Amino acid sequence: MAKPKKRYVCQSCGSLTAQWAGQCADCGEWNTLVEDSGAVVTPFQAKHNLQGGGRMILMSGLDADVPLPARMSTGIAELDRALGGGFVEASATLIGGDPGIGKSTLLLQAAAKMALAGKGVAYVSGEEAADQVRLRARRLGLGNAPVQLASATSVRDILTTLGGATPPDLLVIDSIQTMHSDLIEGAPGTVSQVRAASQELIRFAKERGTAVVLVGHVTKDGSLAGPRVLEHMVDTVLAFEGERSHQYRILRAVKNRFGGTDEIGVFAMQTEGLTEVGNPSSLFLTSRDESVSGTVVFPALEGTRPVLVEIQALVVRLASGATPRRAVVGWDSGRLAMILAVLEARCGLSFATSEVYLNIAGGYRVQDPAADLAVAAALVSALSERPVATDMVAFGEVALSGEVRPVAHGALRLKEAGKLGFARALAPAAQAKEGNVALSGFRNLGGFVDHMLGR
Ligand code: TYD
Ligand code: MG
Repeated sequence: MAKPKKRYVCQSCGSLTAQWAGQCADCGEWNTLVEDSGAVVTPFQAKHNLQGGGRMILMSGLDADVPLPARMSTGIAELDRALGGGFVEASATLIGGDPGIGKSTLLLQAAAKMALAGKGVAYVSGEEAADQVRLRARRLGLGNAPVQLASATSVRDILTTLGGATPPDLLVIDSIQTMHSDLIEGAPGTVSQVRAASQELIRFAKERGTAVVLVGHVTKDGSLAGPRVLEHMVDTVLAFEGERSHQYRILRAVKNRFGGTDEIGVFAMQTEGLTEVGNPSSLFLTSRDESVSGTVVFPALEGTRPVLVEIQALVVRLASGATPRRAVVGWDSGRLAMILAVLEARCGLSFATSEVYLNIAGGYRVQDPAADLAVAAALVSALSERPVATDMVAFGEVALSGEVRPVAHGALRLKEAGKLGFARALAPAAQAKEGNVALSGFRNLGGFVDHMLGR
């Protein structure tokens, strides 16, 4: 047999290379390449595979009967909503988020509720001692829930323990980075270990009908669980977002083989754990003073739910020739650069000698492209020091040409804004009126800027 070639796997993004290097060519991280001893298919084996020897697989048409996947409600409506109706039997779900954001709290609450509802639930923590988890459950008022709890990190031990006659309905693994598979070498948390441990747990889920939930920590660039390979392996990926210093948390489906990815769950972190926020539309709004420039309300849409958020911009003119800073919290910095460039090239506004700061209030993260026009409004207002009226909202997508484009669900945005007392909206020209919100429509950013500056 040919000697397997050496290969190196990046611990940050999971990409493979034949040659060791100090920097990963794919993700740009330094010192992340580690030798990997994965199985290699040699040419002899590959030829053998083509010559048969496997079993026949059953093939059938697309129209064959399909039973809908059985779902288990978690007893937490906001979590059910993000999942598309609850955990699916025989599936694997990855829930990722920054350390301290509340993943363990959320899953402990869900585990307890499901156990109280009669489901078999196992919670394995590799990060905390069992007593620590117990104390937390007691503090959350869930100490009496019949959850089977253990502190363990060996996947073989966990599966041996739970693989008996009645495997649990739900198995929570907190976190996948602490798990160790003895099928391969390497320390827990490395890409190959995370991959191997996940593979074993996912196989267990599929074979025994258990819904397995893996907790994963995100890396600093925001990708889930370090190795992105994990996202491909599981059925559902949920991201738990928010700023630790703020109360509100958003649970977002990033991938869902059993449902849509356009719904979110909204929670508030309180002393009694995570509480559900059923109607989040006015959550991120603060009452503000008429005279503040640079602040604009944007009617964002999360799935089918409108959420009104406040966008704040600050433009500081620099006296010296120093390179001006651009800082963004809660929005895409590339998108900000684009809006600044369009304002500069198409509308004659110059930000070249000014520092620009953009913030989404309340720790909210905007991903909706309709925010472009609201951001432009905040920037123009900050630059010109002309406040935007407090009863005004703004939305619309801005193209590189300066064109203001209509966005999805404009009517829904206006309806919610109207409900919350907003009377006027800056919107794309094609937007139809809805309710009693007065519209100012714009075809391009030039006309919009003229309107804002009263030209
Ligand atoms: P945790 O669930 O441990 O986060 P993760 O598993 O994502 O790392 O929760 C972390 C924070 O939540 C912790 O710093 C304190 C806070 N917290 C509350 O404010 N109230 C509570 O009831 C609980 C359990 C935690
Ligand atoms: Mg935790």
